[in-house]
Amino acid sequence: MARILVIDDEPGIRSTVRDILEDEGHAVFLAEDGVVGLELLDAERPDLAILDVWLPRMGGLEALGEMKRRRSELEVVVVSGHGTIDMAVRALKLGAFDFIEKPLSMDRILTAVRNALEIGELRRENRNLKRAAASSVGTEPIIGGSTSMTEVRALVEQAAASDARILITGENGTGKELVARSIHLGGKRSGQPFVEVNCAAIPDGLLESELFGHERGAFTDAVSRRIGRFESADGGTLFLDEVADLSLAAQAKVLRVLQEMRFERLGSEKTISVDVRVIAATNKDIHTEISAGRFREDLYFRLAVIPIRVPPLRERGGDIGELCRYFLARAAAAGAPAREISPEGYELLASRPWPGNVRELANFVERLAVLSDERVVSAATVGKILDDGMPRRAEPLIGERYASLALAEAKELFERDYLVQKLRDYGYNMAEVADASGISPSGLHAKVKKHDIEQKR
Ligand SMILES: Nc1ncnc2c1ncn2[C@@H]1O[C@H](COP(=O)(O)OP(=O)(O)OP(=O)(O)O)[C@@H](O)[C@H]1O
Ligand SMILES: [Mg+2]
Repeated sequence: MARILVIDDEPGIRSTVRDILEDEGHAVFLAEDGVVGLELLDAERPDLAILDVWLPRMGGLEALGEMKRRRSELEVVVVSGHGTIDMAVRALKLGAFDFIEKPLSMDRILTAVRNALEIGELRRENRNLKRAAASSVGTEPIIGGSTSMTEVRALVEQAAASDARILITGENGTGKELVARSIHLGGKRSGQPFVEVNCAAIPDGLLESELFGHERGAFTDAVSRRIGRFESADGGTLFLDEVADLSLAAQAKVLRVLQEMRFERLGSEKTISVDVRVIAATNKDIHTEISAGRFREDLYFRLAVIPIRVPPLRERGGDIGELCRYFLARAAAAGAPAREISPEGYELLASRPWPGNVRELANFVERLAVLSDERVVSAATVGKILDDGMPRRAEPLIGERYASLALAEAKELFERDYLVQKLRDYGYNMAEVADASGISPSGLHAKVKKHDIEQKR
């Protein structure tokens, strides 16, 4: 099924063409002239337009030029009347896909529409393949035979087969973006755009225009029209990275759009509806953000239909060897010298706590491939590159949440966090929480009361 815009000034032709196309299962939008046609082009985002070259108000060729300028990927089939063939030829030069002569035959319309849609699909696929090939992450496999990564891969597969919203959590450099791209590429939207938004990088005041777009003149700096990320992702996937960094005001706006999948560009009253799959990610502990009042719980539920936690590398040390071999092969494929790590080298790696995540490991392996002159890298060399080459980013033992507090306060806060987490884990079943925490039910009640913890659900 496609979305088709029909622009023709004769009501009879409009309704005939609509009937033919609707019978084929397409959604059809009708415009009586180029001006209305352009409005519908923006509002309905059709895949294909059928355009009469002879139109009142704005001429067909002018309308065609403007349509192609706004949406270069739109396929246009031009309809020419008797004596307007030369106009049809000019239309082809302007980027129209095909032309049909009046009087219209049903067969001719259907064939032109089918061909145009097929070509459009091929072009789209081609563009996206090129885009995917150009970006390094996403086409890569998710490496790791550990139980936890096997589970992640199973979830990715399940997520890819559905259109459900996904929230990916995990520390920096664990592979959240790789997971997001794998879900997109594994699903039915893979031929469509994957549009990424780093929520932490957009100042609050620009967020709406970034996400929803704006019309020219909507605000002082809006010198031209801008298509928002939600709109660019139409048909595909929108990746809201660092979503927990959105301000509460921004969260409210995003929530509203997620409920309806409709929005307006800034400075416009026209409602645009889109078909977008949303995947979000954060390196923050989202439950802490929610209990601290920094993240809306209703937005969490909208985003996390399937939550996926990507575990830090220290919880899956067994994956390090496999990841190293993969990154060595990748470096060699990219032109670095072919290297292997000796068994003793791997032993040395396994004997130290790894000070980072997969990204740091990938960097380390790349350095090793370039810096070592041994084909099979010895433990001594591994140790040396580890010692002088690695940024040592020790994990803080206590979170910043506690670090600034006096000990007594920190203990209180910890107790509260602990209980909030346990209550959530056990679905607010007080007896089970008491049991799991090793305290009596009455002791638990007292603490819940003291900390003023809500016992909902
Ligand atoms: N399981 C894995 N298998 C192969 N490569 C991986 C894996 N996990 C991560 N990588 C690679 O490690 C690098 C970091 O991954 P990615 O950018 O997805 O992490 P991230 O969680 O989004 O990080 P950040 O929180 O800093 O944005 C990328 O080059 C990615 O391809
Ligand atoms: Mg990332």
